[in-house]
Amino acid sequence: MNIGIIGAGHVGLVTGACFADLGNRVVMADRDHKKIAMLKRRQMPFFEPGLEELVHRGVASKRLTFVPTTREVVTGSTLIFLCVGTPPRSSGEADLTAVEDVTREIAQAMRSYRLIVEKSTVPVETGEWIKRTCRLAIRRGVPFDVASNPEFLREGSAIQDFLHPDRIVLGVETKRAQALLTELYKPLHAPVLVTDIKSAELIKHASNSFLAVKVSFINSVAEICDTVGADVVKVAEGMGFDKRIGRSFLDAGVGYGGSCFPKDVSAFIRIAEKHGHNFQLLKAAAAVNEAQRKRFVKRIAQTLWNLNNKTVGVLGLAFKPNTDDLREAPSIDIIRMLEEEGAKVRVFDPKAMAQADGFFPEVTFCRNPYEVARGADCLAVVTEWNEFKELDFSRIKKLMRQPVIVDGRNMYDPASIRRLGFRYVGMGKGDALE
Ligand code: UGA
Repeated sequence: MNIGIIGAGHVGLVTGACFADLGNRVVMADRDHKKIAMLKRRQMPFFEPGLEELVHRGVASKRLTFVPTTREVVTGSTLIFLCVGTPPRSSGEADLTAVEDVTREIAQAMRSYRLIVEKSTVPVETGEWIKRTCRLAIRRGVPFDVASNPEFLREGSAIQDFLHPDRIVLGVETKRAQALLTELYKPLHAPVLVTDIKSAELIKHASNSFLAVKVSFINSVAEICDTVGADVVKVAEGMGFDKRIGRSFLDAGVGYGGSCFPKDVSAFIRIAEKHGHNFQLLKAAAAVNEAQRKRFVKRIAQTLWNLNNKTVGVLGLAFKPNTDDLREAPSIDIIRMLEEEGAKVRVFDPKAMAQADGFFPEVTFCRNPYEVARGADCLAVVTEWNEFKELDFSRIKKLMRQPVIVDGRNMYDPASIRRLGFRYVGMGKGDALE
């Protein structure tokens, strides 16, 4: 099929590369011309495992091309996916300016039937606005459909998630739109839910918000575990056996970050407010998440007595492993708070160091975890990268000023770490005051 994609961010680029790999002809544009120029030179604008190879393959086969304008995308594509950013406004509401601008550009360039598909995460009723905007801008008599096809891929496992989704949601209004999208997704053999556009839009916000609530729930349980001396990992395991609950997204730690959960929770709260509903549950989840970062710093302070003049070695900057994304990363607040308390910070992240350039003027950037440990009073784990799992702890211990680990992701086995002579403190492991 002939597919157009507007927006070469995480969702757009993965979608484009995967559709091209499945045999479709994909044309992509982004208003960031530097990004398009980079992609044309086969350079990736961000890190995502496996994406570079997929993009190279698409470009080499000529099934994936990058063009500078929306008009060029519209000319040769029957389905056009909107994958532009919907960043938060200061009020928490999603900023839909890019969606509106691109919709108008698409409508003005259309000369025959096109299906415009929302893939960006948008608030409910955006589809209505897209239709209204199209009708005003389009040439008389040119037919079109609008559909909502939310994307559920995660950064760090985006390609796997895209190609093996738990479900595909198609919010459509006509048989023609449904047929086109069903045909496109056929090779994935995934369960398909066909619904109206508004329900599809809500499914995306509700799913992300629900997962965020799950994370905040377990973080609240973790706090109780710390007070009474229980182990949150065991509690999560015990809860997870119940099929109605499930084990995933019950990992306690420094809280959620990234470009999706914080933004989508805020946007969903605002949409609810707009429609007269006070979404207290989500407000509480957001508040717990914010508190979690403070709690982690407090945990470090409790362990080290005074933070002033101490050196804290931070392992991990990215909001989660396998990405270089620092958007809303817990590390940002954590490092800021540590510095405010007078601590010196050393840091290493396998992928996000370049993104962090200029973010933390006072921080010492290190080349590996061992350099981070040199002279540190404490190692603070903020991102659970695989390569932090198997460190040479005897070497680390010798390098540190005091052998202390505060594990913000419950990555290590406390007993083994303690056997090596470290003071170990996790999150919700019941050991905070030991
Ligand atoms: C999330 C959703 O999981 C995707 O389904 C969705 O498509 C995406 O947002 C989006 O809207 O684009 P992502 O933000 O890439 O994906 O990352 P997640 O794996 O969901 O993690 C989000 C945050 O929650 C991370 O900071 C992670 O460390 C944290 N988290 C996750 C926990 O603290 N505990 C958990 O048990 C799980």
